[in-house]
Amino acid sequence: MRIILLGPPGSGKGTQGELIEKAYGIERFSTGDLLREAVDKGTDLGRRIQKPMERGELVSDDIVIELIQEKINKKDSQAGYILDGFPRNIQQARELEKIDPGKDEIALDIRISDHEVIERLSGRRVCSGCGAVFNLKKNHPEHQDACDKCGGTLIQREDDRPEVKKKRLEVYHARSENLTGYYKSKSTYREVDGSGGIKKVFARIAAVLNQHLSKKEVI
Ligand code: AP5
Repeated sequence: MRIILLGPPGSGKGTQGELIEKAYGIERFSTGDLLREAVDKGTDLGRRIQKPMERGELVSDDIVIELIQEKINKKDSQAGYILDGFPRNIQQARELEKIDPGKDEIALDIRISDHEVIERLSGRRVCSGCGAVFNLKKNHPEHQDACDKCGGTLIQREDDRPEVKKKRLEVYHARSENLTGYYKSKSTYREVDGSGGIKKVFARIAAVLNQHLSKKEVI
């Protein structure tokens, strides 16, 4: 099964993607994480994408398509995969279909309001050691500046700065939101209410996934 996580910045794609990965044993590929890793390592690719990412713009389709193609081709398990942050526009969605055609698919669109996006991104802190994600307002660490898991320093993502998060939200509404129509036309689209706590949202997602899996068993 291919699970595609759609939704605005901060809607919980990464948070829920990790929970799905653990609960269902399905590998997760996050284009955001792969791109940030390239920037942090200072690779050629990292230097090319750093500026657009810092401005809150999308990086070029060719780059993310190549990254995802490589991951899908090299994946370890037959259980399927979760895509977090990809596709981001219709062109990427069409390319995905060429890379892995006819795959059993479910596109989960995690919906929250623009107000909630800004709230969540303002409070997000990421561990510079292990990458764990916290929220100072909603999913807070025990100590304000240290990671509960490894004790590493918590930092704010560059693109969570006020002017950049506004830009990312604009880009989402202009470029990514129309993916709903694409997946509705394929009948793989499922909308999920992303409001409320992390466990509550996961329970909604699990209900959708379990229903999908039980239908497959019957067929
Ligand atoms: P990416 O990293 O994918 O950013 P994004 O889509 O903007 O999503 P975020 O990572 O900001 O949020 P999320 O939905 O994962 O939420 P999270 O779980 O962290 O991409 C970054 C950049 O890379 C892009 O801007 C672009 O430049 C580039 N890029 C990536 N993919 C690309 C592509 N395909 N094409 C072109 N360019 C691409 O949660 C957010 C916060 O809220 C956390 O603090 C969390 O603890 C908290 N939280 C989560 N759920 C809840 C809840 N239910 N209640 C309360 N708090 C919650």
